[in-house]
Amino acid sequence: MPDNVRLCFVCLGNICRSPTAAAVMRHRVAEAELTDRIEIESAGTSGWHIGEPPDERSVQEARRRGIAMHDRGQRFDASDFDRFSLVLAADYDNVSVLRSLARGPEEELKVHLLRSFDPEADGDLAVPDPYYGGTDGFANVFDLVDAACLGLLEHLTAGPLAE
Ligand code: 4NP
Repeated sequence: MPDNVRLCFVCLGNICRSPTAAAVMRHRVAEAELTDRIEIESAGTSGWHIGEPPDERSVQEARRRGIAMHDRGQRFDASDFDRFSLVLAADYDNVSVLRSLARGPEEELKVHLLRSFDPEADGDLAVPDPYYGGTDGFANVFDLVDAACLGLLEHLTAGPLAE
């Protein structure tokens, strides 16, 4: 049996995009009965919201779709590369920061843009930061993240979890 897959979703604040992605992925993984095989956390590249619950607007959007959000803000640290097999970044800035934290090429290769797993996505693969915008932004984040999580799950079941 191959090792468990350990995922960390990362954005800037760890209160909007990455905890949404973690909650959506947990939901999709549970549907696929893979909860025992895929471990999921989220983190921020900043330490601005350490210990805080997710943004209420993200919580409301997720609740509207039947999904609960539980993560508390934490900052991604270089040593976290030891704990995770894949680090999924919400946008290009997050990718740059994460790659600069990587202590070598093996860790750099763990960093991917989350939406690169969405087979329908092309062009700009960022999940736009919704923090300073209206509620539409949070619905958009949820849609983009859900499509990417489905693609990521497909990738994991065809690859790392199938081996
Ligand atoms: P997130 O959104 O990176 O999706 O969690 C943000 C949350 C907070 C801030 C910026 C973006 N902030 O400036 O505090």
